[in-house]
Amino acid sequence: MARTCLLVWSCCLILASPNVVHVLSTVVPGVGVNWGTMAFHPLPPDIVVNMLKDNGITKVKLFDSDSPTLKALSGTGIEVMIGIPNNQLYILADGIEDAKDWVKENVTAHLHDGGVDIKYVAVGNEPFLSSYNNTFDNITFPALQNVQKALDKAGVGDKIKATIPINADVYESPSNKPSDGNFRKDVKDVMVQIVKFLQQNKAPFVVNIYPFLSLYQNADFPFEYAFFDGSGKTISDKNVSYTNVFDANYDTLVWTLKKNNAEDLKIVVGEVGWPTDGNINANNNLAKKFYDGLLKKLAAKKGTPLRPGQLDVYLFDLIDENQKSIAPGNFERHWGLFRYDGQPKFPIDLSGKGNDKMLIAAKGVQYMRPQWCVLNEENKNLAMIANEIGYACSESDCTSLGYGSACNKMDIDGNVSYAFNMYFQMHNQDEGACDFNGLAMIVKTNASQGSCLFPLQLAGAGERLKLAYGASIIPGLLLAFFTLM
Ligand SMILES: *[C@@H]1O[C@H](CO)[C@@H](O)[C@H](O)[C@H]1NC(C)=O
Ligand SMILES: *[C@@H]1O[C@H](CO)[C@@H](O)[C@H](O)[C@H]1NC(C)=O
Ligand SMILES: *[C@@H]1O[C@H](CO)[C@@H](O)[C@H](O)[C@H]1NC(C)=O
Ligand SMILES: *[C@@H]1O[C@H](CO)[C@@H](O)[C@H](O)[C@H]1NC(C)=O
Ligand SMILES: *[C@@H]1O[C@H](CO)[C@@H](O)[C@H](O)[C@H]1NC(C)=O
Ligand SMILES: *[C@@H]1O[C@H](CO)[C@@H](O)[C@H](O)[C@H]1NC(C)=O
Repeated sequence: MARTCLLVWSCCLILASPNVVHVLSTVVPGVGVNWGTMAFHPLPPDIVVNMLKDNGITKVKLFDSDSPTLKALSGTGIEVMIGIPNNQLYILADGIEDAKDWVKENVTAHLHDGGVDIKYVAVGNEPFLSSYNNTFDNITFPALQNVQKALDKAGVGDKIKATIPINADVYESPSNKPSDGNFRKDVKDVMVQIVKFLQQNKAPFVVNIYPFLSLYQNADFPFEYAFFDGSGKTISDKNVSYTNVFDANYDTLVWTLKKNNAEDLKIVVGEVGWPTDGNINANNNLAKKFYDGLLKKLAAKKGTPLRPGQLDVYLFDLIDENQKSIAPGNFERHWGLFRYDGQPKFPIDLSGKGNDKMLIAAKGVQYMRPQWCVLNEENKNLAMIANEIGYACSESDCTSLGYGSACNKMDIDGNVSYAFNMYFQMHNQDEGACDFNGLAMIVKTNASQGSCLFPLQLAGAGERLKLAYGASIIPGLLLAFFTLM
């Protein structure tokens, strides 16, 4: 009884709320978002879940099975793909018993009434990336088999499928024509086994497709071909004409599956998106152009030439992750539709109808005190600055300072202050973190300059903070740059 009353109440509240228009504007069917949490202070899960609900998002893909996150998703009806990080594949490949324990603790524990709507378990994340040098080749397939077996044994294998989010570099086409596609030689054998297994288990092939990386990695890449406006290069292949690299890439996979006796395998795009900072082609305008084209195409259910109809895709990423490795590039920390603090970056219409407006920001976000760490002009000592700035950046995040990025237009003092502030904020505004041999000082006035945001840290340091420092990666290029300065 109490439940019913509560339900009636919350319906009334929703109807009376001014957000009703947003709530009703539905996201394109088949579209979900990736929710990565590699940030110094990730937003609390309950705040993120409310933000998902406010924006009508009903599908998420996670990179782990973090228990507080799953608790926050409980009872929301949001469909979830949980993930298993690559470093846990060893143990799961080893034996079925470990996989059973994993499923018990990380899947079935959440399936009670009012629990989590888990649909997929992602076994590993892009384990066959060529930059991993075949590290996970031997363990990924056994881990996939064990996890699916454990799901079956737990009696949930019909509803919950194990799969592997795979980077698009597992297949290639020497001519760039989709019909010439096939699996990369070094992973062909294992991919053929995996594809067969997915087919037998009615699980989808999950692939991450990145038009941005096509553009980033190749100076001669035809710019418009990365987008969906059809105003640039086309590639003719058999009787099909491709006007964008997303379709061509997807259909290269379709041809690859066909050649390996898996023509009917369902495909899900595990990640697709565009970053907004950290590279000359990473900004709000181009991200908007990309998403506008993508969402319009998805809403029209055009599919690709070889797979017309609805596509299933997860946008990458929900929120910026300022602790991701920048080995791929400085843009890696700027894929979010939302900033680190849940503020939307650019107008978008997730229904694909072109009625752009800002997404609804996260509510109830708590920041640390409004104070910033900047260069103390009185103690400016140019000879010492290079070292200090290099240190500050190596222990924080200066990816917005580089060429073509949001904070690239400042003078040298601005650069120094930016680096000092990032260090200070990422050390929880600890007074000792704003010293830099006397070169720095704390100020109470907003230090942001123009379009360059000097962020404030979010309140509430979590467990992840400690993890974050343990894994901190020195951005070698930035260091080199600043020591030259
Ligand atoms: C459940 O998942 C977490 C996070 O991935 C992992 O650390 C833990 O070992 C898993 N539980 C079991 C019993 O394997
Ligand atoms: C892969 O091999 C290259 C070249 O030998 C090396 O630079 C790189 O660090 C290796 N990567 C990993 C993840 O082992
Ligand atoms: C994978 O297994 C093959 C065959 O057993 C072996 O030759 C190869 O070295 C293994 N690779 C790794 C990375 O363990
Ligand atoms: C291309 O031609 C083949 C056979 O000639 C046909 O089956 C296929 O549907 C055509 N594809 C498109 C996209 O028209
Ligand atoms: C500030 O830093 C950026 C990126 O490192 C650099 O491009 C710019 O030239 C710097 N500004 C000055 C005045 O040194
Ligand atoms: C500081 O200024 C920037 C840019 O004007 C703004 O976006 C940000 O919200 C301000 N921060 C605070 C805490 O007022």
